Amino acid sequence: MDINIAVFASGSGSNAEQLIKHFQGVSEMTVSQVYCNKPDAFVLERAKNLDVPSLVFSRSEFKSEEFLAQLESVDFIILAGFLWKIPEYLIQAFPEKIINIHPALLPSYGGKGMYGSHVHESVIVNKEKQSGITIHLVNENYDEGRTLFQASCDISPEDTPDSLAQKIHQLEHKYFPQIAEDYIREYMSKK
Ligand code: GAR
Repeated sequence: MDINIAVFASGSGSNAEQLIKHFQGVSEMTVSQVYCNKPDAFVLERAKNLDVPSLVFSRSEFKSEEFLAQLESVDFIILAGFLWKIPEYLIQAFPEKIINIHPALLPSYGGKGMYGSHVHESVIVNKEKQSGITIHLVNENYDEGRTLFQASCDISPEDTPDSLAQKIHQLEHKYFPQIAEDYIREYMSKK
C-alpha cells in the first residue's frame, strides 16, 4: 500500500503543516504535494520548509478538466482551509476520496460565504454557547457530504472571533490528521 495524498490549502496552512508532519510518520501514506490557489499564501512557505513540493494554480486552470493531469498519481485529496468550491469533474474523479475540514458544527454555519473568520464572527454575534469542527467528505453540495467526525468546544462570554479561531485550530490540529488517516485506511480496507 503506497498512498499519495494531495493537500489543498489557501491560507496560513497550519492544518496542512499538521497533516504533512503526521503522514511523514505513517509509512504507507505520503502528502506528495500541496496545491494552492494563492501565490503569496504562507502554506507555501510551510510546505517548502517540510520538503513537500507545491503547485500554485489559477481559477481558470482549476475550472478546466485538464487540471486532472496534475493529480495523476494522487489517491486522496484533503482540503485544509481551501476556499474555492470544488468543481464537479474533480468530485467525480475522486468519489468519496475528498476530505474537508469545516470550522463549525455542520449543518450549522455552513454553506456559501461561511469560511474561516466569517464563521467565527457569526458564531460570536449569535452568542452561541458552543462551536466546533466537522470533518466530512465532499460531494456536489457545499458542506453537505457525509460527516466523519465532529468535536466541540465551549464559548465563554469573553470569547472573540480570534480567540474562538484559536480554540478551533487546537481542535483541528488535534484530530484532523488522525481522522483523515483512519478514514483512508477504512476506505482501502473495503476496496
Ligand atoms: C481552518 O480553520 C479551516 O477549518 C477553515 O480555514 C481554516 C484554515 O486554517 N476552512 C474553512 O473555512 C473551509 N470552509 P489554516 O490555514 O491555518 O489551516
